[in-house]
Formats: sequence, structure tokens, C-alpha cells
Amino acid sequence: MLAFLKLLVCLLIAAVFSLPPPKPTVTLQPSWTQIYSGETVTVRCEIQGDTEWDYEWETNSTIKPANQNEYRIRSASSSNSGNYRCKGRMKSSWHKTTEWSDSVTLTVSDNKPRPVLTVSPSWLSPGASVTLNCQVEHPSAGWSFYWYKAVPDLSEKSSSYELLPDGSGTAQDSYIIHGQTHTAGYVCRAGRGDPEYHTDHTLSLHCMLFSDVHSAASLTVSPDRVQHFTSDSVSLTCEGNFTEWRVRKFSEDGRLSDCRRMTGSTCNINTSESDTGVYWCESGSGEFSSAVNITVQNDGNGPILVSPVHPVTEGASVSLSCSLRTQKILSNVFFYHNDKLIQNDTRGELNISAVSKSDEGFYKCQYSGRESAQSWMSVKGQQDQNISCVFVKMILMLEKEH
Ligand SMILES: *[C@@H]1O[C@H](CO)[C@@H](O)[C@H](O)[C@H]1NC(C)=O
Ligand SMILES: *[C@@H]1O[C@H](CO)[C@@H](O)[C@H](O)[C@H]1NC(C)=O
Ligand SMILES: *[C@@H]1O[C@H](CO)[C@@H](O)[C@H](O)[C@H]1NC(C)=O
Ligand SMILES: *[C@@H]1O[C@H](CO)[C@@H](O)[C@H](O)[C@H]1NC(C)=O
Ligand SMILES: *[C@@H]1O[C@H](CO)[C@@H](O)[C@H](O)[C@H]1NC(C)=O
Ligand SMILES: *[C@@H]1O[C@H](CO)[C@@H](O)[C@H](O)[C@H]1NC(C)=O
Ligand SMILES: *[C@@H]1O[C@H](CO)[C@@H](O)[C@H](O)[C@H]1NC(C)=O
Repeated sequence: MLAFLKLLVCLLIAAVFSLPPPKPTVTLQPSWTQIYSGETVTVRCEIQGDTEWDYEWETNSTIKPANQNEYRIRSASSSNSGNYRCKGRMKSSWHKTTEWSDSVTLTVSDNKPRPVLTVSPSWLSPGASVTLNCQVEHPSAGWSFYWYKAVPDLSEKSSSYELLPDGSGTAQDSYIIHGQTHTAGYVCRAGRGDPEYHTDHTLSLHCMLFSDVHSAASLTVSPDRVQHFTSDSVSLTCEGNFTEWRVRKFSEDGRLSDCRRMTGSTCNINTSESDTGVYWCESGSGEFSSAVNITVQNDGNGPILVSPVHPVTEGASVSLSCSLRTQKILSNVFFYHNDKLIQNDTRGELNISAVSKSDEGFYKCQYSGRESAQSWMSVKGQQDQNISCVFVKMILMLEKEH
């Protein structure tokens, strides 16, 4: 009987000791799976319990970790990219090992990220508030943001910049500017980690002030609409009591250029996609006209929205329509305002008899299952000053921070 009990105890003890050792887990600290060249990261092998272990790593990266539980990478490079897994070997009993952990993938990119700065709305009346948004490719991964004001010098194509109030290392990826009343530019960049790693600066977004109708200089577009088909001929005409004109443009990629096909005060364009941009007239003596947004459609067979290029005054009437390359569409057009369907019937036009501020926003049309691009329709109050701020992307050399 006693012998039997002894045997039972022995069996129990054996069972306890032969419990499979716990499975290790690999963690990344910080837990970002996308790392940029130069960042600091620790790869750690964790095994539950009090047992003392030696550690072994297996990886297909070019650089192998030493046999320790922690592998600290002080300045990561793409040769640290790879799958990592580890196992433990009991210090007291060399032949006892854990199984392999699951693999964890570390990706180190050699490209320095450049965040993208966006603004909404991009046309606004002086004094209105505007929200800037700074986006990095992997948004959730612990970035903080730095906001700068850039002071442009168009003749030098350069600008200097300074930190905005409360613009240093904020956790928010947006920054609100209240009461924008003068030409100014903004850039952001992001940083994270300890020691802190910084992204490049974004392209700068500049609020340029333009005067609307009845200023000394004005710009008319023919045909008078925002969207155009490719190979349309479009003319931009500068008006005002000046002898010399140039038509200038910021394209979507932030480049500033001058119209090369000027006939007198008119710039003629045979449209291609690269003509999309914000245009304005500048007189020889430096008078600016209002600015217009021209979009050249990329889908050859789809419809375009016919909407006014200049802001509409409150109380005025406006008519939006839809057009194919070959003809204006006369019936059964659906219209959307800020992505909401607002007219779905047999009519071909969207008529607003007295425009109000709430009509401002993005419009698009849809015809027989095909949608146009959307365009911003700006509404200005009768009392508003005849100037507005248009945000344009600019590629400028950024000079010293101060
Ligand atoms: C490591 O192996 C994984 C899976 O086989 C593969 O997707 C990855 O590209 C490899 N990485 C390197 C750096 O060889
Ligand atoms: C145009 O400008 C010239 C010189 O500045 C001035 O003499 C002339 O009266 C102006 N004409 C009009 C129509 O304003
Ligand atoms: C546009 O194209 C037409 C015909 O293809 C040509 O006659 C005209 O000169 C071109 N205009 C410009 C501004 O390139
Ligand atoms: C438009 O209205 C028709 C008939 O009222 C309906 O069948 C159709 O689904 C509507 N279309 C959309 C996009 O809502
Ligand atoms: C819209 O207004 C235009 C004039 O601005 C008019 O010719 C047209 O008939 C109107 N369309 C509808 C559907 O009311
Ligand atoms: C110009 O129009 C395009 C397309 O509608 C829009 O994405 C862009 O924000 C507009 N630009 C400005 C400065 O309003
Ligand atoms: C602004 O333009 C309106 C017409 O659109 C004109 O009546 C008004 O006098 C202008 N205001 C200023 C300050 O120039």
C-alpha cells in the first residue's frame, strides 16, 4: 500500500515536471510594426513563470540578435527587417527547451515619411476658421505633430518658417486657424519615440488672398465652369486697366508656373490633366485678380459637372448641370451636395433660386450610372469683403527655422 502511494507521488511529480514549458512570445517595444530607418526599437522574448532561461533567436533579417531576451536596435535600418522568433533553454537543465514562439515581423523602411497636409475648406472668406490636417502613412502609430507658419517669398521661391503657438509636439493631427486675414503658409511634420525621430516637413499649404469681382483686376474663364474635358479649349482672360498681364497657376503637385500661351491678356489652353490647378491674373504692377479652380476630368467618357468658377453671392440664383463631351444632358440627372443625394428626378438642372450659405459645399452629378468629379461651390455673403483666402500647395525651398 505504502509502495503504491510512493509510486503515485512519483508519477505526480513526474507529471508536473514534464508539463510542457510555456510558449514564449515576441514583442516589439514600441509596438509599431512599421519602423523608419534611424528609429529605436526593442525586440523582446517573453516567457511566463520563474524559471531562468537562456534565449535563442531565429530570424531571416541580415543582422542576428545575440542570445539575450532583449534585442535593442538603436538606429534601425532595412537590414533589421525580417521575421523574428525565439525559444528558451532552461539554465538548470540544458536539454530542456521551450517550443518556438510565433514569428513577429519587423519592417524597417529606408524612406523618410513625408506627411500630407490638407485643409478644409480650401476657399474661405477672411476671418473664417479653417482646420489643417497632418497625416502620416501609418496614422495610429504614436506620432505627435509640429505646426509651423511659413512666410513665403514668391520671387525667391522660398520661405522661412516658425513654430505656431501651441504647435509643438501636439498629439492632435489637426490644427485650427481662427480668423485667417492675410497671406500665410503652413507646414507640419511629425515625430515619435525616444530619442525622437522626425519625419520630413510636408509641402506647405498657403492661404493666398485674392480679391473677388470688382477689384482692379479680374479673371474670366470661358467656358465659365470649373470642370473641363481633356482637349477642351479654355481661355482665361485678364481684365482691368493694365497693360501687362500674366496668368499664374499652382498645380496640384504644388508647382508655380506661368501661362506660356498668352495672346494679349488671354491665356489659351488645350486642356490636359496637368492643367488642373488654381489660376489667377497678375498685372505688371502687382495687382492680383480673384483666383479660380480649374479641374480637367480624367475619365474620358464620364460626365462633368457644370458649376460656376467664381463664388456665388447670397441671394443670387444659380443653375448647376451635367454635360457629356458630346452634349449637355437635358434630363434625368441626379445631383449630390456633400455626397448626399439632393435631386433625383427627370430634371436635367439643379436650380437654386436664392443661394444661402448652407448651399456652399461640394457638388457632383450622376447620369446613367456615371458620376462626375465633385467641385466646391463657394457662397459669399453680401457683406463679405471681396477677398477670399485660397489654400494652395506650394513647393518652396524651406529656409532656416527660427
Ligand atoms: C522573411 O521571411 C518572410 C516569410 O517567409 C518573408 O515574407 C520576408 O520577406 C523575409 N524577410 C527577409 C528580410 O528576408
Ligand atoms: C487707366 O489708367 C490710366 C493710367 O493709370 C488712366 O489715365 C486712365 O484714366 C485709366 N482708365 C480707366 C478707364 O480707368
Ligand atoms: C489647340 O488645338 C487646336 C487644334 O488641335 C490648335 O489649332 C490650337 O492652336 C491649339 N491651341 C493651343 C493654345 O495650343
Ligand atoms: C431615384 O429615384 C428612383 C425612383 O424614385 C429610385 O428607384 C432610385 O433608386 C433613386 N436613385 C437613387 C440613387 O437613390
Ligand atoms: C433652371 O433655370 C434656368 C434659367 O436660369 C431655366 O432656363 C430652366 O428652365 C430652369 N430649370 C428647371 C428644371 O427649373
Ligand atoms: C479645386 O478643385 C479640386 C476638385 O474639386 C479640389 O480637390 C481642390 O481642393 C480645389 N482646390 C481649391 C484650392 O479649392
Ligand atoms: C464687393 O462686390 C460687390 C458686388 O459683388 C460690390 O457691390 C461691393 O461694392 C464690393 N465691395 C467692396 C468693398 O469692394
